[in-house]
Amino acid sequence: MRIGRNDGLDGILAGETVLSHVDGEAGTLVVRGHHIEDLALHGGLEDVAALLWDGFAEGGGDVAAVRRGLGAARRQAFALVPGLLSVSERLRPIEALRVGLAMLPDDDPTPAHLRVCGALPVFLAALLCHGAGRPPVAPDPALGTAADLLRMLRGTAAPAAHVRALDTYLATIADHGFNASTFTARVIASTQAGLISAVIGGLCALKGPLHGGAPGPVLDMLDDIGSEDNIGPWLETAITEGGRLMGFGHRIYKVRDPRADVLKAVARELGPESGRLAFAGQVERQALATLKRLKPGRRLDTNVEFYTALVLEAVGIPRDAFTPLFGVGRAVGWCAHVFEQERGGRIIRPLSRYVGPVPKQAA
Ligand code: ACO
Repeated sequence: MRIGRNDGLDGILAGETVLSHVDGEAGTLVVRGHHIEDLALHGGLEDVAALLWDGFAEGGGDVAAVRRGLGAARRQAFALVPGLLSVSERLRPIEALRVGLAMLPDDDPTPAHLRVCGALPVFLAALLCHGAGRPPVAPDPALGTAADLLRMLRGTAAPAAHVRALDTYLATIADHGFNASTFTARVIASTQAGLISAVIGGLCALKGPLHGGAPGPVLDMLDDIGSEDNIGPWLETAITEGGRLMGFGHRIYKVRDPRADVLKAVARELGPESGRLAFAGQVERQALATLKRLKPGRRLDTNVEFYTALVLEAVGIPRDAFTPLFGVGRAVGWCAHVFEQERGGRIIRPLSRYVGPVPKQAA
């Protein structure tokens, strides 16, 4: 049931930010004055973190300081791993990550943004190792987040091409305007509940299949389609039966999501390892044509999640870790938005229109 004419708040301006701007008609994403293509293809997560945190937090603006701070925070987080593993036995990685963040105290000498962004990769790697029956690997604070995450996952250093691919992915998805998870984090921050609570809220919003939960199902879709002959019939059936094609459509982008191009380039650079790329390209082409035919006027194009799935698969990330990994990168943006929101100082409290029954008049 639709609860109102604009239940998705389409087109509502909810606040101002200096952090990032999504232009859905032009198909551009600008992060603090830089096009995402320039940022992500020439820098990694720590570069974008330094940029986003500049002027807001200790170490902001200084890539080396951010890298040192995150490295030390990863080592600090590793002490919490045994406790996390003991309480998250039957949970999926994204659920366990939610528990892990809840274990972080509000008050600690290490700033909360470093603790959150340091803990997420350490917890995720430990959870995946544990799930595969292997002991967790301690972080190496001297490495960047992407290199250390892959090393903790594999137990050995990853090839430079994989580190570069993962770092580009994490940088690409670090911030994206007032998306659902970021807005959630800002609402929580506006109550002065603190950064850890705000980031937990962001992660919970990210978990949904309409937001950060899409890339795993993108691979499920490619698996299910299976062969070239089946692409057309599969897509047609999925859409006519009311299904959503994962990796397509976006509330803001009415043209191609620029992040999809960055990640397509990354997948291409991985060469033969991005094995499904040619098949995925065919699915993409036919999906766009089918959406245009069956959903005329809706302007549905490829979003970031489509090529994310191929990149993450190629660097050996298991499917159930795709959404948590999105959280590792997006946490950098959530923290920046929390800082900005806290500066504003006012609680976010919109109005609603009451459409329920009215009290009966007294006789
Ligand atoms: N496949 C098929 N049809 C779609 C798709 C899709 N991927 N996306 C939207 N539509 C259709 C809807 O069925 C609807 O059709 P109707 O008018 O006939 O009912 C129309 O397009 C408008 O859809 P809305 O749900 O109103 O669009 P909204 O802006 O609310 O949704 C969203 C955006 C959630 C991203 C949607 O496009 C979707 O579900 N995509 C698939 C999931 C996905 O890829 N999510 C990741 C997004 S990127 C990110 O969050 C990082």
